Order: sequence, then structure tokens, then C-alpha cells
Amino acid sequence: MDKMLIRGGRPLRGTTTVSGSKNAALPILMASLLTSEPVVLHNVPRLRDVRTAISLLEGLGAKARWLDEHSLELHAAQVTGYEASYDLVKTMRASFVVLGPILARTGRARVSTPGGCAIGARPVNLHIGGLRALGARIQLRNGYVEARAEHLTGARLWLDNPSVGATENIMMAAALGQGHTTIENAAREPEVQDLGRLLVAMGARITGTGTHVIAIEGVARLHGAEHRVIPDRIEAGSLMVAAAITGGDVVVENAPVEQLDAVITKLRETGVNVTAQNGGLRVVADGALQPIELRTLPYPGFPTDLQAQMMALLTQAAGTSVITETIFENRFMHAQELLRMGADIVMKGATAVVRGPARLSGAPVMATDLRASMGLILAGLAADQETAVSRVYHLDRGYEALDQKLQALGAAIERVAE
Ligand code: EPZ
Repeated sequence: MDKMLIRGGRPLRGTTTVSGSKNAALPILMASLLTSEPVVLHNVPRLRDVRTAISLLEGLGAKARWLDEHSLELHAAQVTGYEASYDLVKTMRASFVVLGPILARTGRARVSTPGGCAIGARPVNLHIGGLRALGARIQLRNGYVEARAEHLTGARLWLDNPSVGATENIMMAAALGQGHTTIENAAREPEVQDLGRLLVAMGARITGTGTHVIAIEGVARLHGAEHRVIPDRIEAGSLMVAAAITGGDVVVENAPVEQLDAVITKLRETGVNVTAQNGGLRVVADGALQPIELRTLPYPGFPTDLQAQMMALLTQAAGTSVITETIFENRFMHAQELLRMGADIVMKGATAVVRGPARLSGAPVMATDLRASMGLILAGLAADQETAVSRVYHLDRGYEALDQKLQALGAAIERVAE
């Protein structure tokens, strides 16, 4: 297993580019099962999670072919399987959104429930409730969701909370159903909107993505389409924090500026200068960082997927910051490792109080999820001496060529075999 060695203390400078969005690409890949015609996707990030999703689709009978570095053709002429195994779903929870597409296409699906994960319980009750409302007969047996439906029929749904995955699963199932579905209190995340755009390009009749109420008029068949995946707002935010935490000056090209309002606002509150430049964002940090209060929320609120990175940054702010995590109940695992690097953080329930500026010193650290790992890399960039972040496979799940991108900005980061 590889680890990342980082020698901190170098201000990052230069220009970097954001890759395609992981969390947009994954459900979009699953949507290719909804048609027997080819779906061509551009700007697909080369990530471990994307490889896992492709294996899942191939296991169901789809053919996958890379047309170039970031363009992928998926063709599910026939769907020969109907199962997503425990081994797959436990390595990548996003596999669970294959349930809606398999069921809508074949009338039958068997998908493992994901179980708990490093950041919280993450149940799937809203996915199941939604598909049941569309007429699916669902049983939970031997750790699997077993679903059947000769046809899915439209329904009016209200989600208890605006779950991204549940909204996507229900949208895909209802798109190929009969009649009219409305999803109220739907997730508004840009990734849901991107999936909506692909489905519409495939012939689906969907309106309201990006709002709290999504309306879907089911159609009998969907056709092939070509689609460009949106840039990754979480990767963009992570690179912006890398500039900020090192006192750097970095242009993040291809950053989806309009999706980053909350992140830009919070970074500016810390005293970092963020301006639009060349279709992206320039981040300049040349003064002392100020403490802030931060609360994670569903989009357009501050994303939970950037909370760990901001915590690393706030260890360097002069004063007391307060972070409240409202999406996942156990997403402060990185704080324990930051403490080992010299941070001053007190946690109580969903709140973390971060006092700074702390002098971080390099240490061997590891994290149990992707964004926590990124938080530790960022802390390493600001720390004295060497930080070794192990379990790099977490980073490989969601950040394309991270070491190369940071190296090109002047970071001393190196990937070594453990
Ligand atoms: C998506 O996960 C993302 N993953 C996550 O990114 C992201 O953190 C999360 O949305 C929130 O923005 C993908 O898009 C592949 P949710 P998802 O359903 O869909 C509760 C990363 O690092 N809930 O919106 O699984 C749930 O427990 C990952 O890239 C239910 O109660 O998130 C959580 O508290 C991590 N019942 C809240 O809703 C359900 O049936 C939001 O979860 C479903 C969810």
C-alpha cells in the first residue's frame, strides 16, 4: 500500500486544473443502464471509484470502452445481471444508486445494503421508501435489498431529508416508469442537476432539478446520449484550501465558480483573497488567517465534503473557530490525527472548537475516509518536517493525480510504497 510523504512549509504557486466530478460521474455511469443504446461521457475523472463503478456495470452485462483519457463509452445493449454484491457496495457506497436503474430496466434487482461507514450510519431507508412508493415490492433479506416491479408507476414523494443518493435513485427509476412523479424536499446538489441533464439528453422528461421539487414524467424508453461531466467542486475547494494553508498564490482553472459561493464566502472570511480569473478562481493568502464559524449544510450550504479540509486550515487561524457538522454524525475522525500533529481542537457532539494558530509538526497519520485524508495532506503542507499519510487508497478513490497536481504547484509531496 502506498503512502504520501509531505514536507511542509512551501507556499504553493502557479496554475492547476480541476478534474471531472466524482460524485456527478458515479450516478451518471449507473444511468447508462437505463438504455440499450451507447452513452458517451466526457470529462470522466480517472479514479478508483470510477473503476469500481465500471466493474459493477460490466458485471451486469454492459460494455465499457475508454475513447481517450477522460472519455468513456458505456453500452448496456442487454442487462444480463441484476445484482450488486456486498463486496462491491461495501467498498463503494455509491454503488447503491444502481438499484433504481437495474430495477427500472429489468424489473428485478438485488443490491447489498451498504451498512455503516467511517463517517456515520448512512442508512438507505429513503431510497427504499421512494422505490416502494413507485410500486416496487422490496424485501430485505440476507443483507440485500431485493426489489421487483413489472412497471414502476408515478407517485408523489416527500423526502425526510434531502438525500443526494435517494434523490438520484428515485429520479432514475421514475424516469423509466409510467406516469407522473414528484420528489419534494429533493436534494439540490449540482451533481443531482448534472444527472438530470444527462437523463434529459437521454429523452427523460424531468424538470425542477436544482430546486426542492423535481417533477418526472415517466417514458417507455430512453435513448443514447453524449454528456460532459461537470468539474469537481470538492476537488476545487480542496485545492483552494491548499493555496490558503500554505500562504500561496494559485489559480484553480475550471473551478465551477457558481457552485462554490459558500466556500468562497467562508475562505474570504478567513482573510484569503479569492477572485475570478480565467474561467476559474485565483486564491491568494498573504496575511494572517482569521477564525470563523462554519456549519455544513445541504447545497447551497457549505459542503460536508470540505469540512475536514477547512478544519486543517482553521488550525492556522489566529483565534477560536467553531465547526458544526450537520450532515454526518461521525465526521470528525481527522481531528484526532490533527491533534497528533499539534492542533488544538476540542470536540463535543457535532461541534469542534479549533484554536489557532497551532504550530503543526509532521507525523505519521492515517484517515478512514477520503476527505479526512485530504485534510491531513493539507495539514502536512503547513507542518514542519515530514508528514506521512498512509492509506492512500482513500485519496485515489476521489482525487485524480493529486500528488502530481500539488507537485506542479511546488509542494514537496511524494508517493512511496509502504
Ligand atoms: C453523497 O452521499 C456524496 N456521495 C457524499 O460524498 C456526500 O458527503 C453526501 O452526498 C452529502 O453531500 C456521492 O455522491 C457518491 P446523502 P449520499 O444521502 O448520497 C441521511 C465523498 O466524500 N440519509 O445525501 O450517501 C444520511 O445518513 C462522499 O465524496 C438517511 O437518513 O449522502 C446523511 O446523514 C462522502 N436515509 C444525510 O441523509 C437515507 O436513505 C445525507 O446523506 C439516505 C440518507
